[in-house]
Amino acid sequence: MKATAIAGSNIAFIKYWGNQDDDLRIPMNGSISMTLDAAHTTTSVEFSPTLSADRFTLNGNLDNGEATSRVTRHLDHIRRLANTEMKAEVRSENSFPTGAGIASSASGFAALTVAASEALGLDMTKSELGRIARLGSGSACRSIDGGFVEWRPGESHEDSFAEPIAPADHWDLVDIVAIISSEHKAYGSSAGHTLAHSSPFYQARLRRVGDSLARVRQAILDKNFAALGRLIEEEAIQLHVTAMTSTPSVLYWQAGTLNVIHALREWRDNDPAVAGFFTIDAGANVHIIAERKAVPALLERLEAIDGVEETLVSSIGG
Ligand code: DP6
Repeated sequence: MKATAIAGSNIAFIKYWGNQDDDLRIPMNGSISMTLDAAHTTTSVEFSPTLSADRFTLNGNLDNGEATSRVTRHLDHIRRLANTEMKAEVRSENSFPTGAGIASSASGFAALTVAASEALGLDMTKSELGRIARLGSGSACRSIDGGFVEWRPGESHEDSFAEPIAPADHWDLVDIVAIISSEHKAYGSSAGHTLAHSSPFYQARLRRVGDSLARVRQAILDKNFAALGRLIEEEAIQLHVTAMTSTPSVLYWQAGTLNVIHALREWRDNDPAVAGFFTIDAGANVHIIAERKAVPALLERLEAIDGVEETLVSSIGG
């Protein structure tokens, strides 16, 4: 009754922000992401009749708090499907530094879903796994597949899951995370989804997003880097304007975040060989999407920027 699964994190080009249904995590809009190989979670799950409660160890530390409750709530969905009440020993390891502000809920809940359902002998399709992963963390449904992935919002639990747009080897893009020194975030992404609705710009964002999704999908299929780059920057700014203008205001950017944004634009204008485009999730870190040939020059320059603590390079995960 034991299984292990590995899932890559993902970086969204068009982002999930706000829910139709917070409990079921049915999003207001579709989203598109790229799965990452260097930032991944390895999770083993072992169900045992001798355990009286679930146990959750993250990066070698036994958790006794909110993280274990979220794991238990997630395992409950899978236990219901397998018709069992057996508790589990769950061990997770992230490949990326803890506390660096790299989201682990996508890779974490994708790996947990696959390992737990496998351990209980459930034979689930990818879309079934995606639906369950989504209940743990919305973006996790995009980490069930590798490559470029689209989550169509749907209107109910049954029709809200992600599907591949193109496999990992379709296009050799790289994600460089510029890790920005930051204090603990006041609002995680779950809180951000709830607050999104209060921004006066949220409805405007939703009206445009269908068009943005179609353009990003096409830029991926055409491998049109300049088009994709423009679109992801536009989207990241729109998302963060929505966050900044919600009540209360959610401001994820730090000084280092802006330093990287300005530098990227200047480098691009002066030297097309150093082209990288930014996107930013619910935090201060900047993800720079680049073609592989630009990575050495980008890394050298990024590491010299004020506020950049370290960089993490990731190819597309399978
Ligand atoms: C800004 O999937 O982390 O990264 O469902 O509450 O766990 P929960 O939220 P989560 O939200 C991700 C928000 C985002 C955009 C994205 O990845 O699409």
